[in-house]
Amino acid sequence: MNETISSIKNRRSIRKFLPDPVPKEVILELIEAAKYAPSSHNRQPWNFTIITDKAVIDGLSQDIRGWYDSLMNLSLPLSFIQEVRKSVREMRKRVNSDQDLFFYNAPALIIIHAPNKEFFCQDCSCADENILIAARSLGLGSCWIGFADIVFNKGMKMKRKLHIPVNHRVMATIALGYPIKFPENALPRKEPKIDWI
Ligand SMILES: Cc1cc2nc3c(=O)[nH]c(=O)nc-3n(C[C@H](O)[C@H](O)[C@H](O)COP(=O)(O)O)c2cc1C
Repeated sequence: MNETISSIKNRRSIRKFLPDPVPKEVILELIEAAKYAPSSHNRQPWNFTIITDKAVIDGLSQDIRGWYDSLMNLSLPLSFIQEVRKSVREMRKRVNSDQDLFFYNAPALIIIHAPNKEFFCQDCSCADENILIAARSLGLGSCWIGFADIVFNKGMKMKRKLHIPVNHRVMATIALGYPIKFPENALPRKEPKIDWI
């Protein structure tokens, strides 16, 4: 199989990491791959915040846990709770766990953010996917943490903590590290709906 397609097909979301740090030059190689993503008008609006200090990552995980915990404790209308019951149950599990079920003990995070303008979400998602695929090809595991994106975009406190300008939107947070092992297979995929015209 072609090497690029093989990296795409072998990429998996990794949720168990070794504690080994990811060398700076390897992370910069990933950013280099991100740089070559397509972007609207070649604007390249992406900014990268890289965190390799485990104490900071653990602190952020606690912040996220606390944010969802307080959300869980709000008295929400029953009809709403019923609608999102599965998500609430899933979140309770994460909040109450003694494990880090937000960043999975990853030794590094890459946060991609940009001013909130037209197409910037798509641009940053392209950069994000380049990182995920390049990481796999370099033997690294990664996982896009949408739960973190949500919290980082709520209020100014988190952005200030991360030195992210308040007019920026966090588009993606990537947990990164060497995996304990790569899963053997891809998760099952649905047959894509294709309409040939
Ligand atoms: C926008 C987005 C947000 C995601 N957020 C999370 C998350 O918060 N936590 C997590 O463990 N996985 C998260 N994932 C990973 C998905 O669960 C995963 O990609 C999907 O189950 C397919 O599995 P695979 O990546 O191994 O192929 C996210 C993926 C995307 C694209």
